[in-house]
Amino acid sequence: MEQQKLKELMDSLTLQEKIGQLVQLSGDFFGEGDLSTGPQAKLGIESWVSQHAGSVLNVLGADKVTDIQKRHMEHSRIPLLFMADIVYGYKTVYPIPLAMACSWNPEMVKQCMRNTAKEAAPDGAHVTFAPMVDVVRDARWGRCLESPGEDPWLNSVFAKAMVEGFQGSEEVCEESDRMISCVKHFAGYGAVEAGREYNTVDMSAWRLTQEYLPPYKAAVDAGCDMVMTSFNTIEGIPATANQWLMEEVLRREWGFNGVIITDYAAIQELIAHGVAADDKEAALLAMNATVDIDMKTPCYANQLQPLLEEGRLSIKKIDDAVWRVLTLKNKLGLFEDPFKGIDKTLAADRKSSPEFLRQTRKMAEQSLVLLKNEKEVLPLNPEQKVALIGPYADNQDMMGLWAVYGDKSQVVTLKTAMTEYLGEKSRNLKAAPGCRIMDNVSQLGDFGGMILAGNAMDGTEEENLAQAIDLAKWADVVVFAMGEHTLQSGESGSRTELEIPDSQKRFIDALLPYTKKSVTLLFNGRPLVLTDLMKKTDAILECWFPGSEGARAIVDVLYGQVNPSGRLTMSFPYTVGQIPVYYSSFRTGRPADTSNHSGRFVSRYIDCPNQPLFSFGYGLSYHQAEYGEIFLDKEVLTPGGSIRARIEISNTTAIAGTETVQLYLHDVSASVVRPVKELKAFQRLELAPGETKTAEFEIHEEMLKFYDQKLTCKAEPGEFELFIGRNSADCKKVKFQYVQK
Ligand code: GLC
Repeated sequence: MEQQKLKELMDSLTLQEKIGQLVQLSGDFFGEGDLSTGPQAKLGIESWVSQHAGSVLNVLGADKVTDIQKRHMEHSRIPLLFMADIVYGYKTVYPIPLAMACSWNPEMVKQCMRNTAKEAAPDGAHVTFAPMVDVVRDARWGRCLESPGEDPWLNSVFAKAMVEGFQGSEEVCEESDRMISCVKHFAGYGAVEAGREYNTVDMSAWRLTQEYLPPYKAAVDAGCDMVMTSFNTIEGIPATANQWLMEEVLRREWGFNGVIITDYAAIQELIAHGVAADDKEAALLAMNATVDIDMKTPCYANQLQPLLEEGRLSIKKIDDAVWRVLTLKNKLGLFEDPFKGIDKTLAADRKSSPEFLRQTRKMAEQSLVLLKNEKEVLPLNPEQKVALIGPYADNQDMMGLWAVYGDKSQVVTLKTAMTEYLGEKSRNLKAAPGCRIMDNVSQLGDFGGMILAGNAMDGTEEENLAQAIDLAKWADVVVFAMGEHTLQSGESGSRTELEIPDSQKRFIDALLPYTKKSVTLLFNGRPLVLTDLMKKTDAILECWFPGSEGARAIVDVLYGQVNPSGRLTMSFPYTVGQIPVYYSSFRTGRPADTSNHSGRFVSRYIDCPNQPLFSFGYGLSYHQAEYGEIFLDKEVLTPGGSIRARIEISNTTAIAGTETVQLYLHDVSASVVRPVKELKAFQRLELAPGETKTAEFEIHEEMLKFYDQKLTCKAEPGEFELFIGRNSADCKKVKFQYVQK
């Protein structure tokens, strides 16, 4: 619709029509018949709100969306927007974002999100509440699952890739197979105190700006049309009511003119936070923070008109919000065609396309991280007798918590995938559950019936152990298939202990005396504490929740069809007591490695190293690589100039493989403290057996910039250390100077 026409429509709207646009309701508000009881009464809104609502939460399906939209358009001039949590896949589910990020392959991640939009748009999805790009350095928080990890710069790289994947662009896709992306959770949600869900966040504006805001800005700069407010406070004010964050930073400084939506019920939760006395105060605070859509509370619906009539809210605030919502709908072409993009032929009970399944399998292959491989126990040989034992041995729960639309029926289990791969040699495979995922699932709280999934097991613990012992005695190798219950991570999955569940630890200890060699496969949504497991098992492969084709990808790696290349994007602690632990820490005045204070009086623990068990960027492969020395084409960088850094990487084995060469910088002295390392670039180098390649990087002033105490983004002259290596803890180092005149 032409702007002028849209303006005329806007000017013709009644107040109820306007307010309705700022309300998002769940699907039960759009059923047939009289809704004045049920959901409307429960939420405390009048029927006009449903009639004029602007958007629907988490309802998809070509028929369902068509029916709701058709009924809605019978009494409304403005089509509904359909928004949903399509975070890492729709029917075809990809590995969780924390896993995908371990591929260090943003182009492939972008393609996966492109495929997701192609699958979901025909089912009526206009907006996805993704990407989630919260920087997270606390593995106690269950939502590590949804994030690319701990590094601001790498999260920014993936934020851009995912937004471009979801939203597509004229060059790469049809209008119809795009989804508007809604970056979340703005802002800083990954820094919840003690890793506890929905908890307080408090840090300086300096640290927030330097380390937590960049990924959201990367999403906005990539054209993301929506932003979701986070549940947490920022400097004492909940994000949903935080004018500095929403109006000053997001809209004024970053130039974001899109739609801001709250997280679920976040406006009314301002009362629980203690910054609003009632719904009316809450509505006013959110409006003043330029929040446009109220997700699932009655605050905007019931309080905007009274606030207007009391003169406490201007119609302009409401009009500005309504205009942003109408503009978004117009961008999607919904006024011309409220059913745009819906394709019933594609939808229905469609199975994933072979192309999408191939893609998620490749994505999973590159997301797996080999953490240990002693005695060359991996890759396995089909002639070996393998006992596949554990609650994930024959379990379809491989998609993780936020795969609400995933087609679980098409997920093959590890046992099936291994049998399929071994063919007539599958006589060399025997499988058993061994033990339950957990002793007690009641603490998890249910989520759509998931609680019992994957924890069912026939027979007693003793009977299953006895069966497993027989298998272990028979086998050359025991492959343990262990990990978290799906509900132990994801939203509301905060934990204070991070080892594998007791039932599994007990079982592994009981079986190890009967095993010759052992491999542990881990299915989990966050870094775990593997310190104990590292002492007990010969190999560990981090599988995360690997998605629809995860089992096949794991088998590809287990039997050497694929050489694992995943590298961690979040540190794995020795113990929960180390948390938060991350590579880009500050030196402190008493760095443990260089301080001239005596041994005791430096920054350290008495009972644990400072470094994590596995560092950011860490991962093993079946090949070995040697890193040469770093060469710089000059040792002084000037404004507008650049330095070229190069290093030779040699594959010293007969196995082709991929090295993720990582480049970090350290600003040795500046007007504020600077991290000991910051990731600034990386290259994925594919090396043939025995091949040597040169990785080249260009260093320029932009990479040196940081926010000073006044939040000015600048580079300062002085000495810099440049690191290149296979992970953040294993690098070569050189120095250069940056001079400004
Ligand atoms: C949830 C999550 C958010 C999600 C929203 C809508 O509570 O915090 O990530 O997009 O509600 O389901």
